[in-house]
Amino acid sequence: MELEKLSALFEQMTLEDKFGQMTQTTGEHFLEMPNKEELVETGPSMEDLGFNAENIYQIGSVLGVSSTAVINEIQRTYLKKSRLKIPLLFMHDAIHGYRTTFPIPLALASSFDRELVKDVAEAVAEEMRATGLHVNFSPMVDLSRDPRWGRVMEGFGEDSFLAGELGKSMIEGYQGSENGEILNDHVVACLKHFVAYGAPEAGKDYASVDMSEKEFYGFYARPYEIALSANPRFVMASFNSLNGEPVTASRYLMNDLLREKFGFDGLNISDWGAVGELKNHGVADSDKEAGDLAMSAGIDIEMLSNTFLTYGSKILEEKPELLEQIDLAVWKILCLKNELGLFEQPFASEESEKTVVRQEKFIQLARKSALESTVLLKNNQNILPVNRKDNLILIGPFAKTQDLLGNWACKGKETETISFEQGFKNQNCPIKAYETLDEVPDKELKYATQVIITIGEASNWSGEGHSSSDLEIADDQKELIRSLKGMGKKIIAIGLSGRPLALQSVIADLDALLWTWYLGNEMGNAVAQLVLGIERPAGRLPMSFPRVSAQVPIRYNELRSGRPANESTYSSRYQDIEIGPLFPFGFGLQYDEFSIDDVSLSKFEINQDDVIEIHVRISNHSQYDSKFTLNLFFEDPIARIVRPVRELLDFVKLDLKAKHSEDYSFKFTLADLSYADNKGTKVIENGPIHFYINDLSKARISCNVKLK
Ligand code: IFM
Repeated sequence: MELEKLSALFEQMTLEDKFGQMTQTTGEHFLEMPNKEELVETGPSMEDLGFNAENIYQIGSVLGVSSTAVINEIQRTYLKKSRLKIPLLFMHDAIHGYRTTFPIPLALASSFDRELVKDVAEAVAEEMRATGLHVNFSPMVDLSRDPRWGRVMEGFGEDSFLAGELGKSMIEGYQGSENGEILNDHVVACLKHFVAYGAPEAGKDYASVDMSEKEFYGFYARPYEIALSANPRFVMASFNSLNGEPVTASRYLMNDLLREKFGFDGLNISDWGAVGELKNHGVADSDKEAGDLAMSAGIDIEMLSNTFLTYGSKILEEKPELLEQIDLAVWKILCLKNELGLFEQPFASEESEKTVVRQEKFIQLARKSALESTVLLKNNQNILPVNRKDNLILIGPFAKTQDLLGNWACKGKETETISFEQGFKNQNCPIKAYETLDEVPDKELKYATQVIITIGEASNWSGEGHSSSDLEIADDQKELIRSLKGMGKKIIAIGLSGRPLALQSVIADLDALLWTWYLGNEMGNAVAQLVLGIERPAGRLPMSFPRVSAQVPIRYNELRSGRPANESTYSSRYQDIEIGPLFPFGFGLQYDEFSIDDVSLSKFEINQDDVIEIHVRISNHSQYDSKFTLNLFFEDPIARIVRPVRELLDFVKLDLKAKHSEDYSFKFTLADLSYADNKGTKVIENGPIHFYINDLSKARISCNVKLK
């Protein structure tokens, strides 16, 4: 629609029409006989939200509906009955796939591969858009160091740079551009949940967050700052309170920080019911006050409560100064609908849903991403890859199931998911699968030299509202491992989870451990190929694995201590477990031998505007083409504040040909070595900086910062 016509439409809008555009609900109000299968509820069921036959046809967007036929039906009903006929926007959570399911985000982060993450997001976007959806509530870049929090599966782990960079790649993939333009066949990204939602007290979802400003700006706000450079058109406010103020009601966070400091000029949307929940936080005593607080904070769209539409006009009477902000929000919503071409074509083609969804290219990408997202954590005597001619059995609670998608699988289907048993069959490997030891015939057990055991947590055990106090595997899994060990079997474990688990009690009994998280539809195929050596694992952990549950929160980049951990009693450690995590951030073994040979630095004395290069030569000594991640860390050993022991500066995933060496140069400036002060201002100081590559224990090269 031409801009003039759009302005004319805007001019016709009443205040109620405007507040309607700023309101979002589920699809059920528009369907005579809602089919629950097509309406996904991603929050608590809401009692009467106060929509009636009139105002429901003023609202601007709908969430959680899938299938083109239903989306079109809702749009058709809406357009028929609404006065201004402004088409609805449809939003959904396709967190790791719409219909084709890809690895959960925490698994994808294990690939340390920006391009892969972008490709996956682009595939998700294509399926969504073909179905008639416009906005994806993704990526989530909430930093978390506490695997008790169930939502760690939806994020990119414990490092703010990694989370920010992969979030940025995902946004570019969804939107199809680097500048915020929404290309054809793409969707609008909604960066969430702003901000600090990943640090709830004791890892309990929705609990309050309390942290210092240095911690906030230096770590928790940082992934947002990075990801916002890809221009997502939406940001979702988080449920939590931060230092005593609910984010949904915080003018400082939603406006001053997000918009003015970080430069966001898109739309702010609340989370499900979060505006109404300001009453539960105890900062509002009525729906009207809740709406007032959220609107004044800068929330543009209210999801699943109905205070804007109900009380907006009254709020405006008392605060007329809000009109400008409201007009701007509504204008942005109209412009976005126009940019997506909805005024010309509000409906999606049912034919395109059929031809686009589950295309072979998406299934191939699901397999590729599953391969890249797997992390080899232990491999004694190179027991992996196995020889298919050996007597192998596959056992454990996940050996045969297709329930491998993980939470937030959107329209993913178990029936389209490859079990481990099927995966081995597809590689013509005659392995027998059992769920328990009792099922294995004695003879079979006797002759099995190696047992592949599936351990971990069930697919729906992580995700929103799924915090856990215990990170150990179940007792029957431990028992299974112990009895196999007692029989003298070699044990190869495949670990599944949506969070790091505490594996100290079983690790010594395992000969090999391949951590697979939840890898999507192609999980069984990918794991069988890795176990059999047809493909080679190259993933690395984006989050530390604790030894025991009580060791969390835990992270590689902890702040320095006056009494760093060592063998002495008076040092920062637990008396009953070894120092450090069981497996740290960045850890991952490979089948093949690599070496990081030459490391050189372009300048040893650096000042303000210098671009510094660290040059690395890396060699693949094996006879296989393979992938290798280079993680560049740094340490600032002397500063005016206490800094982390190590910090990730950059990372890259390289393809390395067999028996080949490659050169790679990391480039950075002094700003990348800075820290955030209490106001979030970046500070750089004189002094030495040490650089580490992959190995956190040994500095490879150092330089000296000398500001003029
Ligand atoms: O996008 C989600 C959010 O992450 C949690 N609450 C519900 C939203 C919409 O489904």
